[in-house]
This record gives sequence, structure tokens and C-alpha cells, in this order.
Amino acid sequence: MRRGAIVQLALLALFFGGITTAVAVIPNWLPPSAAEQADRIDFVFWYVTIICIVIYAIVIATLVYSAWKFRVSPDDDSDGPPVHGHSGLEIGWTAVPFALVTSMAIVSAIVLARNDRTGSHPLRVDVTAQQFAWTFTYPDQHKLTASVLRLPVGRPARFTLRALDVIHSFWVPEFGQKQDAVPGTTTHVTVTPNRVGTYPIICTELCGLGHAVMRSTVIVMPKAEFAAWVNKSGKATSGGGAAAGKAVFTNEGCVACHTLTAAKSTGKIGPDLDKLSTYAQQAGMPLEQFVRESIVNPDAYVEKGYPANVMPKTFGKLPKAQLDALVTFVVDSAKAAK
Ligand code: CUA
Repeated sequence: MRRGAIVQLALLALFFGGITTAVAVIPNWLPPSAAEQADRIDFVFWYVTIICIVIYAIVIATLVYSAWKFRVSPDDDSDGPPVHGHSGLEIGWTAVPFALVTSMAIVSAIVLARNDRTGSHPLRVDVTAQQFAWTFTYPDQHKLTASVLRLPVGRPARFTLRALDVIHSFWVPEFGQKQDAVPGTTTHVTVTPNRVGTYPIICTELCGLGHAVMRSTVIVMPKAEFAAWVNKSGKATSGGGAAAGKAVFTNEGCVACHTLTAAKSTGKIGPDLDKLSTYAQQAGMPLEQFVRESIVNPDAYVEKGYPANVMPKTFGKLPKAQLDALVTFVVDSAKAAK
């Protein structure tokens, strides 16, 4: 009789545990991990989830079994037998949860501590967030700046985040961590990408009208490819003249928002740069002065039909040689397009 009850309870627990496991595993709740830190976070997630599934299965099985076996018959009005304390049971249901919760805390603490380790030679990346764009600067790689993040696989990257206006939050789902960028202070996060690929960068703090479009891309590339990109971009943007300006135009992500035939870009969010000569006339300024002002202080003149306060104001902080090259390239291209 007793053994029969235990077998029935166990079968019920297996049944409910199976359903719960299927709900946890089949829908692919989590994005595939692309960083060592995300692997560790996933481990904590599954460690806690498995414990929860086991406890849930035992509790539900006991509940269903009791409702099924000990149900009173409809005409039975008598009270159940009085139940007093059961020391063994009480010690058990205190000790087991204590041990489980403590083990979760220890596992989490170990993962948090390890995820913060940067190693002795991390790649430093400065992240600037502002309504509504991301800018990435590599202080040790010719101060290269870009709006698309490139990272070498297998090397810890130490991000230093700054915000120019309101609070933003840096999130790559595949990297498993979020970090706020807060005006007036700097925050940090470490990521060691371990899977080559292209992943989205998402602002995950409501920061204004353009919050939903404050997105970029991170490209995790083999180490040699990253070194080649640094080398090429460093040379390309430091050479000066229109060729360097074209590299700056592409690196800075101007292509995402603007159409410019010379750069083969077809963005539609900002004004069509092939028409810059006309815009300059409307603004009553010489073309070159107009282009420079529009890059450094984009809201000084806003073309009709386009929203103000959308173009990032970080471009004024480009190294002077890069800014000059960018102006030269845009002016030359606009003249050619006329
Ligand atoms: Cu920046 Cu939301």
C-alpha cells in the first residue's frame, strides 16, 4: 500500500516535471550565447530553473495526489484528525530550501565575480550614448571611432560607457548583459565574445522619441580580421583628403541615415546629401561652411520635412583631421552630384 502510493506520487511528479521541462526547453527562450559571460549566466539560469522544476513537480504531484486520494465523500461532514507538529518534517522543509537557496547565492556570486574579470590585456572600448545613436571609440587603436562595433573573438573587451544627455542602456542579447550609460558618470562592462557573427546592439532604456531606433550592430570577427580592419581604417582615416573622408563617412555610420551617391548609400532618415548644394542655398551659406556646421551643430539649420534633434551631436568631437577629411569628401560629392 505504502509502496504503491510512493510509485503513484513519483509517476505524477515525472508527468508534471516532464511538462514543465518541455515548457522550459522547447520555446528557446534565450538567445544563443556569443560570450563567455553569457555562457556563465546561462549556467546560473539553468541551475536555478532545474531546481525550480524539481520542487514544482514534487509540490504539484503531492497536491494532485492528495486531492485525488483524500477527497471527502459528498455526504461526509466530519472533521479531519487533529495534526500536531512533526519535528523531522519541519527540520527537513527548513534545511532543504536553506541549502538550495544558499547554493544559488554561491553559484551567482562566483559567476558575478568571474564575469567582472578583464584579464591583464583587455581591448578598451569607449561607448558614447546619446539620443539616438551609439558611438564606439578605440582609445588604443589610433582613436578609431565607428558607429558599428567590431570586436575580435576570444579577447576580453572592457567597455567604458558615457551618456551625453539622458540615461541609455547598452544591450547585446547574445552577450547576456545590460549596462546603463548614465550622464555625469562612467559605467563599465566586460564582454569576451566567443562566437564569430553579427549581433544587434539595442538601447534598452526608454530615452525619448527615437528610443526604438537607437540600434546598432556588433560584428565579432577573427582576431586577424580585426587587426586588418584596425590597420586599414587607421590608415584610411588618417590620410586626409576625400578618400579618408569617405572612410570616415562609412565608419561613422552616416550611410545608415543619408543618401549619397558617392558613398553608394541610400539611407532615408536624414536629408538626401546629393541635394546639399540646394540646401546650402536655402540656408544662405557657402557649401563648405554649411556642410561643416551641419556636421558639428546639426540643429543649426534643419531641412524642411526632416525632424530636428535626430542627428547625433558627437561628430563635432571627431579628431580634427578626420572632420576635415569628412567635410572635404561630402563637399566634393555634393558638387559632383549637382
Ligand atoms: Cu537610448 Cu533608449
